[in-house]
Amino acid sequence: MNDRAMRREAFFSGDSPYDVMLRVNLLLHDEAATLVTRRLEALSRRRPDDHVIEILDLACGVPLTIVDAVENLPDRRFGYTGVDIHPDQVRKARELPMPGNVVDSRIINGSAWDLTHLANPARRTQSMRRTRQSEPAERHAQLKRASHGALPTTYDFVFVGMNLHHGTPEEIWLLATQLRSLLAPDGCLTNHDCYRPEGVAYVRRPATTLEDGKRASLHMVNPQVLAEAAPPSFHFEEATESRPAWRADLIDRLLEGYLSAGGDEAGAEVTASHSWARDFPLSVTEMRTVLEAAGYGVEAHRFPEEASLVAPYAAFISAWPHRLAKAGYSD
Ligand SMILES: C[S@@+](CC[C@H](N)C(=O)[O-])C[C@H]1O[C@@H](n2cnc3c(N)ncnc32)[C@H](O)[C@@H]1O
Repeated sequence: MNDRAMRREAFFSGDSPYDVMLRVNLLLHDEAATLVTRRLEALSRRRPDDHVIEILDLACGVPLTIVDAVENLPDRRFGYTGVDIHPDQVRKARELPMPGNVVDSRIINGSAWDLTHLANPARRTQSMRRTRQSEPAERHAQLKRASHGALPTTYDFVFVGMNLHHGTPEEIWLLATQLRSLLAPDGCLTNHDCYRPEGVAYVRRPATTLEDGKRASLHMVNPQVLAEAAPPSFHFEEATESRPAWRADLIDRLLEGYLSAGGDEAGAEVTASHSWARDFPLSVTEMRTVLEAAGYGVEAHRFPEEASLVAPYAAFISAWPHRLAKAGYSD
């Protein structure tokens, strides 16, 4: 898995280029926060007033989207669980003051693609290791006990911001499948991310990349675990070249936005090498196919082109277990 490499990833280290992009809303976090607010509002109408709405934020980084959304709903109470693999991001996330209506929060340092890390990683006991092969819900319940009840059993709302574009269709399917067991009965899974334009072929992420002269794995999920889960075959048309024009255009837009916001050349280089090595987004249509195969009904929101330089490559996805999507739960 890419755990070790991603833990050192320069794009997210120290005063990272990503912070500059956040400052100028290059990736439309403000708009994402508005959409999250809308989803949380709809969800809270189906919950008693005193219910604490539990949010799971995978690959949380500095969780601005969720913090903004929760601040928009001062009359509701929230629990917050963030997970991130990069120590610098975890530190910054822990330093970010949570709004007063977040009654309970924790930031876990671990992989967002291995839900066993939702237990306190420092307490990786024998009993946790024994649970690896069990069903996600059962496993999570066992891990919850192992972490002394610190974690919620289910989450009302799961958010993944700007991370799914590192995964393959099969890895995303597995993550979404496992998340179904962690979602409360009418919970919602949401994603704000980079997406490939429709009508251009998929570029499949390679297994490894060269970093500082060394081979680093790009897998988000352990390949053996993925094979055991037997994901469906997704027949997306695949490109023959790894650097087609649309990838160059996406990276040019990121760099132009970053440099015009005051970013420096060194940060631009880090951004370009991060993106070339790790960003292999699906199209929105492909994400819909993957999530439907994992048992969800999907609603997609695209942003107007003029919203930002990167807007043509951004989208917000909401997904509900099929049964609820059919019942019009998206309203
Ligand atoms: C582009 S930032 C997104 C942060 C935030 N979610 C947002 O929407 O702005 C991606 C974050 O994912 C984290 N990350 C990358 N791979 C991860 C993994 N396998 N597990 C957990 N976090 C990961 C990085 O450390 C970084 O903080």
